[in-house]
Amino acid sequence: MTQKLVVGNWKLNGGLAANEAFFGAAGALAGVDAAVCVPFPYLAQAAARLRGLALGAQTVSEFQSGAYTGEVSAEMLADLGCRYVIVGHSERRALFGEDDAVVGRKAAAALRVGLTPIVCVGESLAEREAGRALEVAGRQLDAVLAVIGAQALARVVIAYEPVWAIGTGRAAGVDEAQAVHADIRGWLVGQGAAAVRVLYGGSVKADNAATLFAAPDIDGGLIGGASLAARDFMAICQAAASVA
Ligand code: 13P
Repeated sequence: MTQKLVVGNWKLNGGLAANEAFFGAAGALAGVDAAVCVPFPYLAQAAARLRGLALGAQTVSEFQSGAYTGEVSAEMLADLGCRYVIVGHSERRALFGEDDAVVGRKAAAALRVGLTPIVCVGESLAEREAGRALEVAGRQLDAVLAVIGAQALARVVIAYEPVWAIGTGRAAGVDEAQAVHADIRGWLVGQGAAAVRVLYGGSVKADNAATLFAAPDIDGGLIGGASLAARDFMAICQAAASVA
């Protein structure tokens, strides 16, 4: 089995001084792959200071260059040393109007320059309560597949992030999460991409990480709040290493 992958998503947090403290205390651990996705202005600082952690961004333009004020291209992210970029995070979908088609094109833009897109999928509370969790993830994945094609699928990471678990302190139960992950794995197998890593995200903390990561189809985590302090983030990386 490939080792677990733990990715921090700092969202709209950080500052030069606070970041220094993080980079001074965080570092590579044997037995786990780890990365942090920092805000654009801090990519260069992170690239210079990261010790053994991979670098990622939190979104990317679907466009390559030109008159797109405010956008940041995949080429620029690659230039700055990124390996990963998150696409389709539920906050981008809900707050910035990114639909399935945009998410697909952003994933394709990342893949074109050799970045690994971390494609986020997941249902809202209303969708879960209506019994539609699997259907929603399936629709979101099919939309990305339609743009990138089955061959490229092997080069993505998927993150299942139920919206109701994000920032709420209410992580999905391990069985609840595993059920969706198993469904996503089945979909991947059907596309000939069984080895794609499927991360869980939503209120992962040091004290629930090992339980979640021990599930057969949970290949690591996408961590929001608990990725801001090196101590918490490294504890989660340690949990991943311990179950790998
Ligand atoms: P929290 O870990 O803060 O719930 O955020 C999860 C998330 O959205 C990671 O992308």
